[in-house]
Amino acid sequence: MHRRHFLAALAAPAFAPAAFAQAAPTINAGRLRSHLEALSVFGRPAGGAFADGVSRVAYSDSDIAGRAYVMQLMRDAGLTPRIDPAGNIFARRPGTDNSLPPVLFGSHTDSVPNGGNFDGDLGTLAAIEVIQALNEARLTTRRPLEIVVWQNEEGFAFNNGVCGSRIVAGHLDAGELDLVWNGLKKSDALRKIGGDPDRIADARRAPGSFACYLELHIEQGGTLEKSGTPIGVVEGIVGIDRFDVEIRGFANHAGTTPMPDRRDALVAASHLTVAVDDTIRAEPGRQVGTVGQLNVSPNVPNIVPGSVKMVIELRDLSAPKIARLGAKIQARAREIAAQTRTEIDVRLAAHHPPALATPAVQQSIETVCTKLALKTQRLPSGAGHDAQMMSLLGPMGMIFVPSVAGISHSPKELTKWEDCATGATVLLHTVLAHA
Ligand code: GLV
Ligand code: MN
Ligand code: MN
Repeated sequence: MHRRHFLAALAAPAFAPAAFAQAAPTINAGRLRSHLEALSVFGRPAGGAFADGVSRVAYSDSDIAGRAYVMQLMRDAGLTPRIDPAGNIFARRPGTDNSLPPVLFGSHTDSVPNGGNFDGDLGTLAAIEVIQALNEARLTTRRPLEIVVWQNEEGFAFNNGVCGSRIVAGHLDAGELDLVWNGLKKSDALRKIGGDPDRIADARRAPGSFACYLELHIEQGGTLEKSGTPIGVVEGIVGIDRFDVEIRGFANHAGTTPMPDRRDALVAASHLTVAVDDTIRAEPGRQVGTVGQLNVSPNVPNIVPGSVKMVIELRDLSAPKIARLGAKIQARAREIAAQTRTEIDVRLAAHHPPALATPAVQQSIETVCTKLALKTQRLPSGAGHDAQMMSLLGPMGMIFVPSVAGISHSPKELTKWEDCATGATVLLHTVLAHA
């Protein structure tokens, strides 16, 4: 990407909405990289390096340290961060007409256990870099700009993600703040990161409270890399249903309990895992289903497993399809319980509806890319994002950049530095196009 392309693009009328512009704003690729490298330290395995990835699970000490680092970057960019009652971090840059709703953009900094250094981090740090670029160009937009770091996007903690954005969209589940995970009550988890569960209703934002929500993210799949396309324009984000499953059998001596007398919870869990895979594969489409978490008790070689807790996750762009597949799997769970003489409870733990990106926002990202001479490709997102919650409140669009080898939720997650900078540049100009 050549700087003159950006400058040529900025000369076009579509990129001249702002007052007091002194110079063309430019993403500083080196600064963005150094911020990504610095953030990666929080949650890095002991003695590890950048390539060893990160475990920055929401509400952990490393999550809190990472958030503090990001808030300092916001202050360095002249912003005053605030934490809303839901624990999200917001910071606002005034426009020339502050009566207008802002352009809102950002991402998250929490990670899955054994995650990578780009998922969420890129969109968060690119948002701050956009502000820095505008500051350096002494450019004030007409609309105010607001950047956001959502809390607990990943949902490993409490088995339910997009938590901060869900609360802002008014989709906190009944009783959710009373749930306990690893001995921590959710209301206390929010307090731990600076939220205020006693004022949780104040975190809610009204439809129309922002002009547009934008999020830059790594693709996390291999589509863009395979087609050699630097920028993906997201068409829609999958819906996700997660089920907490508890299987109760009977723990007994592994040497003395004859096979016909066993009530083995792990055998039931194994049948159910295969049933999930079979059910998902049995019809055409892009739906996916996963059993990614299994806790066996007592987990001892010479004891027949007495109980298993596992999580089933289903994803697709069609909500009715997810519901239908979920019902089929629950019916199979009842059959397996009868066959294995176990009890199987299946409880819906998380329900995130699919969301379509706003066509006009997709178009504006493409227009920006045309001006920057960047090839684009429209694609669905198989990963969940806070953007799907923001789509309930206003126009939404997402910009994807390629993931090397399509690997994500892994320390091997990687996006080339130049692709990170290109994505941030597209975010910058898309923000300007809307602001
Ligand atoms: C979040 O990254 C998800 O898709 O689970
Ligand atoms: Mn993410
Ligand atoms: Mn993720």
